[in-house]
Amino acid sequence: MKGLILSGGKGTRLYPLTYTSAKQLIPVANKPVLFRVIEAIRDAGITEIGIVVGDTAEEIKAAVGRGGRWNVHITYIHQEKPLGLAHAVKVSRDFLGDERFVMFLGDNVIQGGISELIEQFASSDWNSQVVLTKVAHPELYGVAELDDDGQIKRLVEKPKNPVSNLALVGIYMFDKNIHEAVNNITPSWRGELEITDAIQWLVEHGYKVYPYIHRGWWIDTGKREDLLEANSLVLEELTPVIEGYVDRDSQVDGRVTIEKGAEIINSVIRGPTIIGERTRVVNSYIGPFTSIYHDVLIEDSEIERAIVLEHSVIRDIPARIQDSVIGRHVQLVRSPIKPKAYKLTLGDHSQVGIL
Ligand code: DAU
Repeated sequence: MKGLILSGGKGTRLYPLTYTSAKQLIPVANKPVLFRVIEAIRDAGITEIGIVVGDTAEEIKAAVGRGGRWNVHITYIHQEKPLGLAHAVKVSRDFLGDERFVMFLGDNVIQGGISELIEQFASSDWNSQVVLTKVAHPELYGVAELDDDGQIKRLVEKPKNPVSNLALVGIYMFDKNIHEAVNNITPSWRGELEITDAIQWLVEHGYKVYPYIHRGWWIDTGKREDLLEANSLVLEELTPVIEGYVDRDSQVDGRVTIEKGAEIINSVIRGPTIIGERTRVVNSYIGPFTSIYHDVLIEDSEIERAIVLEHSVIRDIPARIQDSVIGRHVQLVRSPIKPKAYKLTLGDHSQVGIL
């Protein structure tokens, strides 16, 4: 089997973080979501992986490389415009050939991996298998209607009035018949060739499409709140390791990971939390569910349930920073220069909650 990861598109819902970078590269518990997807596919024994890339191709290629780090071989497939998930399959036709494959959305994080599922599909005569899970807002997803025997009756992309709460998780398995399906559908109301419609085509034409109901957690990290939620869930599952330096005046509890070259000075760190390489935390409190990425400085400040990206500085902030996502190279510091005022340089679509 082959693997196909979809990492094109623009990620508008994570603006401004994704103006300058690919949403799939935003780290959750200090590891880019896309790396987690590659590992999930590799752990299922698949070594030939294609990654569909768009506007952010160069950044993704620079971060992922050719796959040697994971012992897999990566082929990049260029999609000129994000014309839909089924369109991404179309442009991957040469890479996929007639082989069975698993398709995984590059911004999804799922609990427990997918090895079992892939093994099951690889040895079956099914034409497709889709992963479903119960969600609170099915209207935001592709939705499946099952019949009394638990088989798929109908699939609809982002329905206004969903007939069930079972959403299509961004993990799909196909055999070569999907190529005929994607060639036989037309763009949806949002102008995209929907993979949901292509699977519906398979169902209507008598192909065997099996549902698998995933019972653990699953998060599409495309929105800020979901990103913090995914971060918390992954941190809970991390095995803590202390590889950096913790001075005697600091308190670090059992569920904290301190990466190489990090320094914790006179600070309190409550887990689950991860502190990245070469990051310094001085006279500060880092609360649970926080991921501080590499080369960050946090001094005389308090942070809880947050993600801070690389090379940022947070210094001398009087109130606790909470439920926040802070981008790269951000300077969040108390300024002694008069007049006493908030002095902000914020990107478009930034959100700031002031006391
Ligand atoms: O997250 C699960 C949902 O993903 C499913 O329930 C829906 O049925 C499915 O259509 C999809 O919906 P989204 O609207 O959330 O997909 P999004 O546009 O966010 O794209 C998902 C990933 O695929 C993202 O990593 C970008 C990539 N992509 C997207 C498009 C439209 C591509 O590589 N090429 C594309 O043309």
